[in-house]
Amino acid sequence: MRKEQDYYFHKAKKEKYPARSVFKLEEAQLKHRFLKFGQRVLDLGCHPGSWSLYAAEVIGEKGVVVGVDLQHTDLAVQKPHAEIHWLCYDVYSEDLVVYLKQNWPGFHVVLSDMAPRTTGSQYADHQHSLRLAERVLQMARLFLHKNGTVYCKVFQGEDFPQFLKKCRALFTSVKVVKPRSSRQESREVFLLGRGFHPQR
Ligand SMILES: C[S@@+](CC[C@H](N)C(=O)[O-])C[C@H]1O[C@@H](n2cnc3c(N)ncnc32)[C@H](O)[C@@H]1O
Repeated sequence: MRKEQDYYFHKAKKEKYPARSVFKLEEAQLKHRFLKFGQRVLDLGCHPGSWSLYAAEVIGEKGVVVGVDLQHTDLAVQKPHAEIHWLCYDVYSEDLVVYLKQNWPGFHVVLSDMAPRTTGSQYADHQHSLRLAERVLQMARLFLHKNGTVYCKVFQGEDFPQFLKKCRALFTSVKVVKPRSSRQESREVFLLGRGFHPQR
């Protein structure tokens, strides 16, 4: 497994992405093709910027990516790409909601690779991760267009089935994705919700 992680680390470096986590999005995109030319994409927990950069390349120069993180992100980008806006906010902040409302008329895709600081307690980490994922759903309700897509990281645990049930009520299709580049021993999975129904 260590060898595999080294492989992704070097691959990310070679392809000029700041983090190997980019392949957790790339694998899903190559299989499910939910990022499309000209879209607006909201990337929650974007630092150091790999997912935003990858999404900006796929959606091209007519698209817009808005990356949000607690940490300041300022990535120099060389490849052709969509406009990228880096915002430094806590995802729970109401100021973020106001700023997004003032500047963009909604998004076609909401991405989230947000992860809590791990505590050593699997249960606590699962609950923190679910809270972040619930916030992603709230942000989707506020900003995601009808038929839009959410791709969101969650740490599995005992309340995961209930969360999944909630998602199934909001999207036409919900898949649980475990990319090969995600460590097999890690409890992280990615929820892919497509065909958002905002009224539900
Ligand atoms: C695994 S990293 C994201 C890596 C990123 N997708 C990439 O490919 O470069 C998770 C990020 O989530 C952010 N995060 C965690 N909690 C957050 C919160 N409440 N608000 C905003 N960002 C948060 C962390 O600061 C961290 O940078």
